[in-house]
Amino acid sequence: MTLSAVASDADDSVAYTFASRYVREALPRFRIPEQSIPKDAAYQIINDELMLDGNPRLNLASFVTTWMEPECDRLIMAAVNKNYVDMDEYPVTTELQNRCVNMIAHLFNAPIGEDETAVGVGTVGSSEAIMLAGLAFKRKWQNKRKAEEKPYDKPNIVTGANVQVVCWEKFARYFEVELKEVKLKEGYYVMDPAKAVEMVDENTICVAAILGSTLTGEFEDVKLLNDLLTEKNQETGWDTPIHVDAASGGFIAPFLYPELEWDFRLPQVKSINVSGHKYGLVYAGVGWVVWRNKEDLPEELIFHINYLGADQPTFTLNFSKGSSQIIAQYYQFIRLGFEGFRNIMENCMENAKVLKAGIEGTETFDIVSKDVGVPLVAFSLKDSGKYTVFDVSETLRRFGWIVPAYTMPADAEHVAVLRVVIREDFSRSLAERLVTDIKKVLTDLENRWTKATMITHVKAEENPDGGGAVVPKKSVKQTHEEIARYWKRLVDRKKTSGVC
Ligand SMILES: Cc1ncc(COP(=O)(O)O)c(C=O)c1O
Repeated sequence: MTLSAVASDADDSVAYTFASRYVREALPRFRIPEQSIPKDAAYQIINDELMLDGNPRLNLASFVTTWMEPECDRLIMAAVNKNYVDMDEYPVTTELQNRCVNMIAHLFNAPIGEDETAVGVGTVGSSEAIMLAGLAFKRKWQNKRKAEEKPYDKPNIVTGANVQVVCWEKFARYFEVELKEVKLKEGYYVMDPAKAVEMVDENTICVAAILGSTLTGEFEDVKLLNDLLTEKNQETGWDTPIHVDAASGGFIAPFLYPELEWDFRLPQVKSINVSGHKYGLVYAGVGWVVWRNKEDLPEELIFHINYLGADQPTFTLNFSKGSSQIIAQYYQFIRLGFEGFRNIMENCMENAKVLKAGIEGTETFDIVSKDVGVPLVAFSLKDSGKYTVFDVSETLRRFGWIVPAYTMPADAEHVAVLRVVIREDFSRSLAERLVTDIKKVLTDLENRWTKATMITHVKAEENPDGGGAVVPKKSVKQTHEEIARYWKRLVDRKKTSGVC
């Protein structure tokens, strides 16, 4: 028993605000408690504990939306008790999802007529969307190989080593597809299309390009990939397709760079995923995948369910899910329109520029992100001899900021960066405030380093025969090794990445 019961009637006069009567012992962590407690107490206990979570608005690690208009919050709350999958009972919600799919397909220039229904589905996020797109490619490739009486047991996907690890490696492992990764190099942190096409073979189910690398926000050159792949397909007789992981960039490129060809305008692009909960401006829990044509989604992957009253085609990994996020996505589309989305994305870009200029002004960092791409600023230390980006990240936490630090994937592991994602609710004043706090952190770290060096000197003077010898300045290699050790410790401790 972990919760204290009401001691006596007299106790009723004691307000259970702050739940003190109910938390005389440790809170339940392993078993459901024997007795009930009043709802106000349960609320207070949980609310108090949650105060120790970070502030989502200051979580600059995440692309995921942390602010929506109160009107939309109301729609979300009104729909929290609707199971999306009960399509027969909630036909309007289903209709809103279909409208969203159509709007996204048009935004991505799918070859469909004005009134034609697009092929796509709402998901929990880009990860589920990628699983579904990957499955469709795998099944299509297998069907083709079977028809040709060729082996179909060694499918692979070609990607850059910068793919979002948790979702693409998860797909590869769960669905038994080899992930062939194009390595990065210092100064070039996206997939090189030429190298990717070189890696394509007859077992390649697709090449996955990223519109907005998670690490630096940079857009990969999908057009060049399409052209090189088309050439290779002509030479070999294969028909290797492209999937675009536009988790972040899908709601940026159409508004800021309408001329950029990355979507269904390119013939080899057969499917695209986008996170509604990133720059689609909806709270966590919605993603989308759209296919070019019906033929790109094998019919045998679609389930037809009719026990709830009508024929319902479904192609998702989970059956039940909430409806709120779909409704919220439709709200954002009609509330903002093209004009509203463009304004917000332009504003995010402006704030990214302000932040970038402030960070450059410290003369301590190199900017790793590009001006064209997802509005974020990724930056590395010019000199990691005194302190590392991990120290900067940890010290910024004292000011409430959550700014992740991480090393790049192979073959650029020795490069460690900090990354600030600019979302709609990260205003110009917050950007300026962050620059001020970064400067304070740098002064603090510099002072700490000076103090530590002085102590080492004093020790060396006090004990000239050993123990306290003056520490020589670290070589670049030593610093990189130290960064890698630090990173490994951090990963071992957390097992999850702050980069999402
Ligand atoms: C490029 C890319 N793909 C996929 C994902 C996974 O997206 P989600 O969180 O919507 O599942 C992310 C997440 O940051 C991403 O940046």
